[in-house]
Order: sequence, then structure tokens, then C-alpha cells
Amino acid sequence: MVSAVLRRPALAAFFSAISRRAFLSMSLRAAAGSVLASILAPLRSAFAGNGAKPLFFRRIVTRDNKSSAMIEWQTDAELSKPRFFWREAGSTSEKSADVDVKYFALDDHPVFVYRAALSGLPAGRKIECRVETAGKTAGTFVFQTDDGGALRALILPDSQCDADYDAWARVSGEASARCPNAELWINMGDLVDNGASFYQWNEWQSATDASLGGRAFAPVMGNHECYSLDWKYCRPDAFLSLFATPDNGSAKYQRYYYSFDYGPVHFIVLNTQREELAALAPGLFEEQAAWLTRDLKSAKARWRVALLHRDLIDYDEEPMIRDPFVETLVPVLEKGGIDAVLTAHAHAYRRRRLSAWKPAKDGVPYILTGNAGNCFYDVEKNEIDEIAFPDNFLNYMTMEADETKLTFRCFLPNGILKDFVTLRKQPETDE
Ligand SMILES: [Fe+2]
Ligand SMILES: [Fe+2]
Repeated sequence: MVSAVLRRPALAAFFSAISRRAFLSMSLRAAAGSVLASILAPLRSAFAGNGAKPLFFRRIVTRDNKSSAMIEWQTDAELSKPRFFWREAGSTSEKSADVDVKYFALDDHPVFVYRAALSGLPAGRKIECRVETAGKTAGTFVFQTDDGGALRALILPDSQCDADYDAWARVSGEASARCPNAELWINMGDLVDNGASFYQWNEWQSATDASLGGRAFAPVMGNHECYSLDWKYCRPDAFLSLFATPDNGSAKYQRYYYSFDYGPVHFIVLNTQREELAALAPGLFEEQAAWLTRDLKSAKARWRVALLHRDLIDYDEEPMIRDPFVETLVPVLEKGGIDAVLTAHAHAYRRRRLSAWKPAKDGVPYILTGNAGNCFYDVEKNEIDEIAFPDNFLNYMTMEADETKLTFRCFLPNGILKDFVTLRKQPETDE
């Protein structure tokens, strides 16, 4: 049976009654909050530096995570003369970094996003950071730079939730606790159910903040980041404002797609919102296609992994079909030597190994990564699926990579291993 709720926003009317009630309730809460925020904002500004506390520290991936880092944090009022300092753990000598601030109104709530772009960092070392306002330390953050060696990453599928984010808090919390050594955290898109809702982002951030820690964070944009409060297509302004992902060289579409290296892996994060952004971002997909070819040519890392929000299969269609947009990307990825492709959007776990769209023992793994939120869809098994788990399945994934092996594992939140696949390469020689 095809899931109706996947057809948002045109099919938002198909939301379950509970889901719509929950969203309307959220909107009302947001509206009430908006009025309050407009009254409080001037007062908060007047107390800038006294009442504003840095929240939601996060480290966004950079192109080279050995020597650079993008540190972000938020406040709901402007900080007074914020300054940023960092030092290698154990050192008594601090260095400073410039602080940039971006203000935007999210669902009428004031949001200040602060950023410090760090460069010249030592590889594989612990870095201690602090934010100072009005001459006092207002917040601290610790992380470890990439050492360029083996990588362990957490892969979290769609986190979008109706109403509260308890399910996401549980799955991401269990994943984080069971993988304390994971250096990288990938969110596969649809971070929130509605990308224009302050309530939704606040819920997601509060839950994520409890577990993310100093791990590098790689967000994939999903279609739900491109919905307005009335469920129309819109530019993903909140997503673009919240996450300063690596420079992709674009004059118009920074943060819509990007790539980065971590350990022995080159990650390519593609934008698959061809339906939502077709009219809102003209030229985006032609630009991305040209970039993708160049990016694959210049990638030097041992492994190449693509992260796409939409899956190979468009489950909205009856009968389900290959997603025509994703289909255009697959030959480019395979020609460019992609080792694995991770997808999301359907809130189900499927593993396939394909060569020219046919199941093949040594084909490229295409993994539909599952569900880490509380929105469940009916997803029919497809003939290309080697592994298909039930639709009421919550899970997280890990990825481990070194010079000779790349392993993906799928776990239940309680840590039970449900599936895995390992790829191998011969050790590189000097000849
Ligand atoms: Fe989703
Ligand atoms: Fe989606």
C-alpha cells in the first residue's frame, strides 16, 4: 500500500487526524509565542550580555576536518560583544577567532546564530573552546579534530516527529550512548516535520543537543525543511540559516549541497528536493549536476559515499516507480566511482546492492536508512530490496571506515544488530 503522507504538502490533507491536530496545536503555540516574542525582544536586547546564554553549540563539518572547524551556537537575544577563544587541550595559550552573527526571525521568534570559523587546527587533537561576553565566559565547547585515520560515524535517518520529539530523543540518545567514539553525526534529512516552525526546530535542537556533543555534524536537507507553516513549498530559510555547511563554490546556492572529507571517506551531500525547489531555486539542479561531476573527479579520499534524502524508489506513485530525479544522479555517481549511496525519506530500512539497477552480489550498496522519528509510513517491498524490515521499525546506523574496509550496520535503539554490509579494498601500495 502506498503511503499518502509522503505526498506533502499537496497531500497534507492526508495527514492523520492526530497529526494535523498536533500541528495545529503547535502552530497555535507558535503564534502565541510569536506575540510574546515580539513583546519580549526589545526587552531581551536591552539585557544583551546579561540574560542571553549561548545554546545549541554545534560543530558543522568543514571540507577538511583535520585542520578546520565551524562552531555555531544560538541565542534568542543579541550577545554583547561576543568573543571566541580556543586552545589545544593542555595548553595555556589561547587563540581567538572572529565571530559572525546572523539574525533571523523563525516563525516570528528571534534567532541569533553565531559562528566562529576555525583554521590552522592540529589534526587528531582535543580542542577546548569558550565564548566570552562582557568579559566573562558564557559558554564552553570541546571537540576533537579528525586525525585522518579510521572513522566511526553515526547515521541518523529522518528525525521528523509529530508534536514532541521524544522518539528522536530516545533513538539519537541510545545511538550516541552506544557509540561514544563516533566522531561524525549524519542526519539524513527531514530533521523536522515543518522547516518553518520554531516549535519544531526548538524540539529537535533540544533533543539533539543532549547527545550530539563535539561530534562533527553533517545535515542533509530534506523536503520537510522546504515547507511553510501552511504546508506550501518554500525556500528552506531556517535550514540555510542554522547550518553553515561547507562552501560549494556556488554564487546562488550555498548550503543546498556540499561535500567534505572525514577520515578515509569523501562524503557528497546532494539536494533531492526537485519537486519542492524546482520553481523556488531555478538552475539549482543543473548547477548541482555539473558540480557533482567535478567533485567526483577531484575527490582523493579512499572511499566515496553519497548522502541523498530521497530514495531510489518514489513510493508516492501507484504503482511505485524509480524516482526520476534520483535516477538521473545514479549513473553519474556510479561513473564517478561511488562506493555506497545512503537515502532516506520513506522512513523504512531497505538494503540493496545494485549494478545498472539490477540486484548484484558485488553491486553498489544503496541503503534506505530507516526511521528515527515518530512518523510511520506504509512502504511496500520492492523487487530490488535484498533486506526489508517492517514499517514500524525505529533504528540508527553506524559506518566504520578504514583503508581497506567500509562497514554499515543497522541497529535497533536497544543496540541489537539487525543488518550489516562490508565493502573491502586492497591495501594501497606505494607503486
Ligand atoms: Fe521524512
Ligand atoms: Fe522526506
